[in-house]
Amino acid sequence: MRIYDIIKKKRDGFALSKEEIEFFIKGYVDGSIHDYQASALCMAIFFQGMNERETADLTLAMAHSGDTVDLSRFGDLTVDKHSTGGVGDKTTLIVAPIVSALGCVMAKMSGRGLGHTGGTIDKLESIEGFNTALSPDEFFSQVEKNGVAVVGQTGNLTPADKKLYALRDVTATVDNLSLIASSIMSKKLAAGSHTIVLDVKCGSGAFMKTPEDAKELAEAMVKIGNNCGRNTAAVITNMDRPLGNNIGNSLEVIEAIDVLKNNGPEDLKEVCLTLSSEIVSLSKNISVDEARKLTEEVLVSGKAFEKFKEWISSQGGNAKWIENTDLFPKAEHTYEIKAENDGYISKMDAEKIGIASVILGAGRETKEDTIDMSAGIVLNKKTGDKVEKGDILATLYSCNEKSFNSSKEKFLSALDFSEKPVSEKTLVWGIIK
Ligand code: URA
Repeated sequence: MRIYDIIKKKRDGFALSKEEIEFFIKGYVDGSIHDYQASALCMAIFFQGMNERETADLTLAMAHSGDTVDLSRFGDLTVDKHSTGGVGDKTTLIVAPIVSALGCVMAKMSGRGLGHTGGTIDKLESIEGFNTALSPDEFFSQVEKNGVAVVGQTGNLTPADKKLYALRDVTATVDNLSLIASSIMSKKLAAGSHTIVLDVKCGSGAFMKTPEDAKELAEAMVKIGNNCGRNTAAVITNMDRPLGNNIGNSLEVIEAIDVLKNNGPEDLKEVCLTLSSEIVSLSKNISVDEARKLTEEVLVSGKAFEKFKEWISSQGGNAKWIENTDLFPKAEHTYEIKAENDGYISKMDAEKIGIASVILGAGRETKEDTIDMSAGIVLNKKTGDKVEKGDILATLYSCNEKSFNSSKEKFLSALDFSEKPVSEKTLVWGIIK
């Protein structure tokens, strides 16, 4: 078998066999297939697509490309969540402590930022001391102790996804259904949790732009999970505007803490409660209504915030920063973007806003880039809001003052205004089980 022939076959629109897919994954992981060949194949997949059988074969080949985690010692209450990626999406930071305060066990592997979207691991690393690279023994003892631990893709778990994810990030091959489904589900299967709840983002800031595409992706992933014996559900949520108001690593942690203190933006709180209720309902086999009451109760009572502090400090994070978010280092420079006219914000292109925050230093433009943890955007106005000339639309944060011009230009190109009031879009499009 030759990788050249496999690339050519996909380029010409044919389905790859299970053996060809396994050959590609094995060769890419052992280094006999090079980055340039893998990127050519990803681009061919991007244009030609994969059928359901190829997507399932790719998922399993990736899931078995390294070690798998055995969580059976924690019983049936092991849970995992994963987002297909959005802008301002800090839900894991809120959902993990909510569900673990209710007795679910979240032993989770998370990713870094990808394209215009942020990643949980980068966000957690903005907290002084937080260790996302635990050894397997440390990981298990954290889970045993707290009922929650979140680590990066360290060790030898799904090495195929680890390499492909970083490659796709910089070769414009992220937003393809089969590549996203196999990337997410390979990690979820290898990570071993019994219940998996997927947050499939839909809209201008998501990889899936339309409800139809998001539904197709949700159904593909739920089918793979259920066929592999996992309790799987997907919640399709709106990403036509950023989630919450803060975008950028430490800014998002600060906003997540706000929600855990039962403040913070309503849209973010609602998506977190919906995801948490699905997780608790599936894993404890209770109705979603009953689960919703429980999740609201731990949020309002402060139990979820206590769990968050416990989790962060036991993974090495500085708990003082959680108690007092003024301790997070501030960006050296700020810039306020003001409205030039009166009107209503009728549309926000969340992808462009994500890119505006990457320009400020909150994400990576190449695999090697380092992140400015304090960089990002705080939105003062969102879709549907009335604005008057001179109102602050958003504040930009960065250590690189030179980035403000092009970030501002990108940000303003993301907004549409109208003279008449506009109605809000649905926050949760549907749930697939
Ligand atoms: N999240 C992932 O883990 N993988 C993707 O391909 C996209 C989002």
